[in-house]
Amino acid sequence: MDYIRKIPGESKPIPAEAVQKGEVYIAYSDCYTCHKEDKDSVGPAFKDIAERYPVQQAYIDMLAQKVINGGKGSWGHATMSAHPKVSREEARFMVSYILSLKKNQ
Ligand code: HEC
Repeated sequence: MDYIRKIPGESKPIPAEAVQKGEVYIAYSDCYTCHKEDKDSVGPAFKDIAERYPVQQAYIDMLAQKVINGGKGSWGHATMSAHPKVSREEARFMVSYILSLKKNQ
């Protein structure tokens, strides 16, 4: 995904507990119908999302909000469905798991 601009910034460590919880919440939601870990599907690969965003609270909050609201325009033309039943806390754990797939983390 060369055309996707990587956002510069330092990454903070992600607590192992948040990663584990996020992995479970994702497994019980519908995320894998549109996302794969390391390949594009309907949505971008989780590893590409991890490479794009620094691990910082502001990005975690922004991405968690996008999971809940759905949306398009950051990666291409496809739209992510909204997930109104996912709480903010659950969405933050999901995003923590996704960002933990960053290389050299
Ligand atoms: C209906 C298909 C679909 C489902 C289901 C889906 N996604 Fe997505 N997701 C997408 C698409 C398409 C994009 C790219 C949106 C864009 O270009 O702005 C995306 C983007 C993302 C992003 C990056 C957002 C950004 O602005 O960079 C994250 C994080 C994400 N999804 C997490 C999740 C999680 C967690 C779930 C499960 C709760 C989920 N997605 C379920 C299709 C989906």
